[in-house]
Amino acid sequence: MNINEQLIQLFVSNQDVFLSGEELSNRLACSRTAVWKHIERLRAEGYVFEAVPRKGYRFISKPDKLDIEHIMEQLQTRIFGRKILYYDEVESTNTLAHAMVLEGAEEGTLVIAEHQTTGRGRMGRKWHSPKGKGLWMSLVLKPQITLQFAPQLTLLVAVALCRSIRKLTSLQVGIKWPNDLLIEGKKISGILLESSADEEKLQHVIAGIGISVNLDLDDFPEELRSVATSLSIEAAQQIDRTQLLCQFLLELETLYELYHEQGFAPVKLLWEALNVSLGCTVRSQGPQGVIEATAEGIDDAGALVVRLADGSLTKWYSSNVEF
Ligand code: BTN
Repeated sequence: MNINEQLIQLFVSNQDVFLSGEELSNRLACSRTAVWKHIERLRAEGYVFEAVPRKGYRFISKPDKLDIEHIMEQLQTRIFGRKILYYDEVESTNTLAHAMVLEGAEEGTLVIAEHQTTGRGRMGRKWHSPKGKGLWMSLVLKPQITLQFAPQLTLLVAVALCRSIRKLTSLQVGIKWPNDLLIEGKKISGILLESSADEEKLQHVIAGIGISVNLDLDDFPEELRSVATSLSIEAAQQIDRTQLLCQFLLELETLYELYHEQGFAPVKLLWEALNVSLGCTVRSQGPQGVIEATAEGIDDAGALVVRLADGSLTKWYSSNVEF
C-alpha cells in the first residue's frame, strides 16, 4: 500500500476523529511535511478534510466517482449507455467518441469522463469540466435522417435533458434556443452536436452533453459566476449523478424512438412547452452589422422563426444568435 492509500485507510477507520500531523507522521513513518503534501494531493483528487490548528485533520468525504456497475444496475434503456467507456480524465469526450466511431463504436455507446482538460463548447468556446462535479459525456448516435434534419436532434437532446432534470428535482429548468438549459437565466448545461455526413446522408452524430451537477460557486472561474450555475447550487443539495445520468438516457432513448416513429412534431411540442426564449429579443451578426428581432417560434426543421423590426418573419439557423 502506498502512503496515499495508507492515509485514506487511517482516515476512514477514524471517522469523526481529528488526527494530528504528528500522529500521522508517526503512523506513516514519514515527515510532517510529507504528510501535508499527501493530504494536499488527496484534496486535489476530491477528498475533503477539515483542518484545525493544534488538532489536525478530520476526514469529511471521499471524491464522488461514477461506478459503472452501479450505473448498469439502475439503467433502464435498451441501447443508450449499454456500452460505457469511462475515463478519469480525457481532453474531450466528443473528440474521443469520434475516434471510437472510427473504430466501430455502435449507436448508444457512451463516453463519459470525470474530468475534461479541454472540454469543447459551441462556437469554439471552452467548456469548464471540473473533476467529479458534473456529467461530461458524449453519446454515439446513428439516426436515420438526412443532414438537413440534424438540428432537430439538438432540440430533442435538450428536451430529454430538461425533462430528466425536472423529474429528479423541483427545479424550474427551461430551454433557450437552440439547446441551452437555464435556471433563472443562468446556464446549467450545454449540448454540442457534431455530425459526420457523406453527401446528404448522416453517418453518425456525437451528442456531447455537459451538465454542471455538483459544482460549488468557487468551482466556476470568476468570469462564469454571473452567467452559470449548477444543479446543487440551485437545489441547495447534492444531486446523485448516477440517477440523473440513467434518467437522462432513458428520456433520450424514449424520445429518439418516438422521433423515428412519428417525426419531429411531438418533439417540437415538448420543446415549445419547455422553452424560455420565445418572445425575447434576439440579435444576430449580419454582414451589415447586428440585427435585432423578436423570437416567435421554431419551424419544422428546428430553425428559429424571428420577427424583424419591419414586421416581416424570417428564419435564423445559425446558433450565432445572442439573446
Ligand atoms: C455549449 O457551448 O453550450 C456546449 C457545451 C458542450 C460541453 C460538452 S461536455 C461533454 C462533451 N465534450 C466536449 O468537449 N463538449 C461536450
